[in-house]
Amino acid sequence: MRHFLKETDFKESELPELFAQARDFKTQRGSHARPLAGQTWALIFAKSSTRTRVSFEVGIHELGGNPLFLNAGDIQLGRGESVEDTARVLSRFVHGLVVRTFQHSDVERLATSGSVPVINGLTDFLHPCQIYADAFTMAEKWAGAGALVPALRGRKIAFLGDTACNMANSWVLGANHFGMKISLAGPASFAPGPELDALLAKSGFSGGYQFTTDPLEAVRGADVVYTDVWVSMGKEEESRERRRVLQPYAVTGRIFAAAKPDALFMHCLPAHPGEEVMPEVLDNPRSVIFDQAENRLHMQKAILATLAQARR
Ligand code: CP
Repeated sequence: MRHFLKETDFKESELPELFAQARDFKTQRGSHARPLAGQTWALIFAKSSTRTRVSFEVGIHELGGNPLFLNAGDIQLGRGESVEDTARVLSRFVHGLVVRTFQHSDVERLATSGSVPVINGLTDFLHPCQIYADAFTMAEKWAGAGALVPALRGRKIAFLGDTACNMANSWVLGANHFGMKISLAGPASFAPGPELDALLAKSGFSGGYQFTTDPLEAVRGADVVYTDVWVSMGKEEESRERRRVLQPYAVTGRIFAAAKPDALFMHCLPAHPGEEVMPEVLDNPRSVIFDQAENRLHMQKAILATLAQARR
C-alpha cells in the first residue's frame, strides 16, 4: 500500500510525472478524468485548517470521489479508541485517509494498521503536501512551459524564523529531495533537532542544510525567502517568548532586498502581517502566497490520483 507521509515517499524518478500531472489538472480543471469515481476518502482532522481541508474536499470531489470530513474530537478516536483500531475500522468503509494531527507517529501507525492509503495533511513534524505544492509553484515560475522538476535543481531557499517547526523540517527534507539548497536562519535555540537529522541521515541527506543565526547571511543568493508563523498550533503558551526571540528574523523589506533581485517570497499561510513578515513583503509583486494556496488543490489531486492508481 502506498502512503504519502513524508517528502521522500515519492521517488525522485516519479517527480516529473507527478508535477506534470498537477499542471495538467490545473490547466484542464473541470474537464479531466475522475480516477476517484465511486470512492470515499475520509479526512480526519485534529487541528484547524482552511487550505488543507478545503483543497482536499474540493480535490476529491473534482476527481469523482466523496470527501468525508471527520473532526477527530467527534469520533471515538477522540475518546480513546486506539489509532490502530480506527485505521482497521475505517479501512472497511473508505478508500483512503487524509490526516491532520499532532504526533507524526500517529500517521505512521494509521498507515501500518490500516489497508488504505494515508496522506499526511500536517503533523507537528512534517507538512509534505504543502512542500509539494510550494515546489510546484516555484517550478511553474521558473520553468514556464518547460520541464518543471529540473527548474528546481540548484536553487536556494532561505527559511527564516521558527527553524525548528514542521514547515522548516519539511523544507529541509524537500529541498534535498528536489536537488535544492536550503539555509535556515533563527535563534540558536531553534536549530533543527535530532529527529530531523536522523531522518536526513536515513534518507541519505546527512548535513543537507546550513543553519545560521544571521538572517542576512541566509538570504544572500537566495531564490526564495520563506517564513511561517512564529506560534504554531499547540505552541500558544510560548507565544510571548517566541515573539521576543524571533523578532530579528521577521522578513522585512530590507531582508527581502538582500536576496536575489528576482527572488520569490513564500509563506504557507495563514500569515500574521507585521509579525513574521512585513506587509510590504506580503504584498510585493514577487510574493506568490496565493499561488501557493491554489496549488495545494492541483498538486494534491496529482497525489490522490497516483495513490488511487497504485491500489488498482
Ligand atoms: N498552510 C496550511 O496548511 O493551511 P491550513 O492550516 O489552513 O490548512
